[in-house]
Amino acid sequence: MEQRVIRIFDTTLRDGEQTPGVCLDMGEKLEIAHALAKMKVDIIEAGFPFASPGDFAAVSEIAAQVKGPVITGLARANIADIDAAYKALKQADRARIHTFIATSDLHLEYKLKMTREQVLDAAEQAVRYSRKYVDDVEFSAEDASRSDKDFLCQVIARAIAAGASTVNIPDTVGYTTPAEFGQLISYIRKNVPNIEQAIISVHCHNDLGMAVANSLAAVQNGATQVECTINGLGERAGNAAMEELVMALHTRPDYYKATAGIDTRHIYKVSRLVSVLTGINVQPNKAIVGDNAFAHESGIHQHGMLNNPLTYEIMRPENIGLSHNALVLGKHSGKHAFEDRLKELGYDLSGEKIGELFTKFKELADRKKMVFDKDIEALITEKASEKAEWYRLIYHQVMSGSQTTATASVKIETSQEVVEQAACGDGPIDATFKAIDTATGFEMILKDYQIKAVTSGEDALGEATVWLEKDGRTVSGRGLSTDILEASAKAYVSAINKMLATGSRSDSDTVAGGN
Ligand code: KIV
Ligand code: ZN
Repeated sequence: MEQRVIRIFDTTLRDGEQTPGVCLDMGEKLEIAHALAKMKVDIIEAGFPFASPGDFAAVSEIAAQVKGPVITGLARANIADIDAAYKALKQADRARIHTFIATSDLHLEYKLKMTREQVLDAAEQAVRYSRKYVDDVEFSAEDASRSDKDFLCQVIARAIAAGASTVNIPDTVGYTTPAEFGQLISYIRKNVPNIEQAIISVHCHNDLGMAVANSLAAVQNGATQVECTINGLGERAGNAAMEELVMALHTRPDYYKATAGIDTRHIYKVSRLVSVLTGINVQPNKAIVGDNAFAHESGIHQHGMLNNPLTYEIMRPENIGLSHNALVLGKHSGKHAFEDRLKELGYDLSGEKIGELFTKFKELADRKKMVFDKDIEALITEKASEKAEWYRLIYHQVMSGSQTTATASVKIETSQEVVEQAACGDGPIDATFKAIDTATGFEMILKDYQIKAVTSGEDALGEATVWLEKDGRTVSGRGLSTDILEASAKAYVSAINKMLATGSRSDSDTVAGGN
């Protein structure tokens, strides 16, 4: 059967990073970009270089270090943005400039204050200017789904004539429906005379929960690139979720007659990594990567599954790289067994990283009888989320009870000194956080706090996530331990370290970007 190849354009690091409360530092962005390259994403949108020095630096590093996918950076349709994008992308083996301008009358009148003629000229000039730098230029018509169709077709035709090799049709505000969006793509194909010279891409937001359905309808009508994010991250209700798009194509090739080049066995790992580094948990019933996506609760279902998994399962968990929470190792397991398990789980790590992880595994195996695959995965993602440590928690101690005021003491190390402080609080967590505040001298606003078990069992690893706000910026930190108070203290200190690591990005040096 002839299958069309659909290019996967991942914008987790650009549109996904615009998720409220998400703030990734350079190391985290690189970690995600490497993971996306391993899963064979076709294009990585690494950021919006003009937006801030931090974005510029991250795009440059990704362009220099991440090989395989095309690396792109976003630029509004103006010279300064395009210059910044090119400078940041210069070291990429394959660089793309992604330039955009809005095309709906609403945006023209209230945001751009431009006429249609001016927008046509600006689109053409932006593409032409980008082509001076690179051959691969993508043009996006922001708010395309609410634009006048014929004007949209004119803008697209001008962009292609000026040298755009990909034209992107965003549903910026998540307004369209599958049938309508499919028709729009079909209309563009019929009414843009030079459309055969470009790839048609779509970029759907999820405000009405239809981002994936809309993207797939576009694929059925001739789009061959879809823009998406891991776990559907993104501004407001997010973007089309990559794992859902890819697995829909993978599971229903008979229907879509299309395929993506993604190595689906990386999907679960990358979803976990992004969730840990962004601090945005995946809802349990989320398609493909939610904790319950492959869980069968009903007896009838379980019976059928035992006879033949196909009775109730349309995808195999292994296809997304999900292991069966198997009991694997314990405190007597040696380094070879540990290394073998890492390989079986699909982790290809350096000897140095394996050594560090093995030490952590041994510490865990001392506190926890049975070490599951999910525990090992949690240790790996904990390693990935480790920050440059301004502060390191050496120990903490808590006294609390229903009749006593909770008191916590902490010992924290910095590069210059070791500080010990104690504080009382409204419960053990509050006391611990207050003691850390006193020891570090920081006053942060605790925006949110969550704790969950990584696996089942009384000695399960607890995973704590803490969101802190300072000067209008929110960051998250994560801590792991079989003791939930220790996990919480580690998460709090990790959030403070992250606040310091990303401190160079201030509101004053960011500009409003795309949606
Ligand atoms: O949603 C949108 O329109 C965008 C464009 C900049 C592609 O993110
Ligand atoms: Zn967007």
